[in-house]
Amino acid sequence: MEILRTAAEMRAWSLRHKCGGRSVGFVPTMGALHEGHLSLVRASRAECGVTVVSIFVNPAQFAPNEDFDAYPREFDKDSAKCAELGVDAVYAPRGSEMYPEDYATRVRVEGLSEGLCGASRPHFFGGVATVVAKLFNAVLPDRAYFGQKDAQQCAVIQRMARDLDTGVEVVEMPIVREPDGLAMSSRNQYLDETGRRRGLCLSRSLFAARAALEQGEDDAEKIRAMVRAGMGEVDIDYIELVDAKTLKPVAKVDRPVLLAVAAQVGKARLIDNIKFDPEKDPESHGERKAECC
Ligand code: PAJ
Repeated sequence: MEILRTAAEMRAWSLRHKCGGRSVGFVPTMGALHEGHLSLVRASRAECGVTVVSIFVNPAQFAPNEDFDAYPREFDKDSAKCAELGVDAVYAPRGSEMYPEDYATRVRVEGLSEGLCGASRPHFFGGVATVVAKLFNAVLPDRAYFGQKDAQQCAVIQRMARDLDTGVEVVEMPIVREPDGLAMSSRNQYLDETGRRRGLCLSRSLFAARAALEQGEDDAEKIRAMVRAGMGEVDIDYIELVDAKTLKPVAKVDRPVLLAVAAQVGKARLIDNIKFDPEKDPESHGERKAECC
């Protein structure tokens, strides 16, 4: 497995493989890899000729009061996990390579970036879209894998990839959870025992709402109230039921929807979501099925 540090090296590596007829699969990450990340790597390994994982804690997506300095950095452990899974290259650019002092360009995806997490983190999706555009230009992937865990991020990247004619196919993969239901996240490391227990209310209340949706409840306000009632001792940022494509709030569940929550639990900001399509057999959607977003 190769470790590449500059965009020029990365592009040359990818072009060599593309000329050899191999498709390039790409999994962008900020490291501290867990089973959620590794599920994306396995999908890429299964579907693409070669697989690149990027590890870069992107300063542009953190506000000054957020956890950029505290964010876990475990490069040696992460690259060992990548090697074990058969990753072909890790792209780990330095901050100064990504953002030189006179760096001046930012990518903004309008509309999709503004609600949900974008409301309380207005800097966030601009930072994400910018770094992913730069990573796509270095890695030149055919397919890039993202998790439904960050469903709004996936929607923003899919639109950016299309709008900027990147030719990259953006694939959304299901949420990987701990055995008790907590969505895996690098930020779960911030939770102490009490926080870990409290954090469980996100997935539990989403699963209860899914049962109600499957039984035919279609009133968005009732679903949101139900989730709110189950949220226990956490500081809720939002509970939103939105159209799965436009991410605009809906009053009635009469199309595919995303039910998404965010809450502060001690030092950790946790997010979680489920998708529901009233047209589909309840058994046929949910956590196990991969979808293109
Ligand atoms: P990071 O939080 O490291 O996540 C990298 C990818 O792993 C994202 O696509 C995310 O949705 C996915 N992921 C995280 N937890 C998951 C889980 N429990 N199940 C399935 N997939 C999961 O998201 C980012 O990094 C950054 O914003 C990035 C896109 C790399 C840009 O800096």
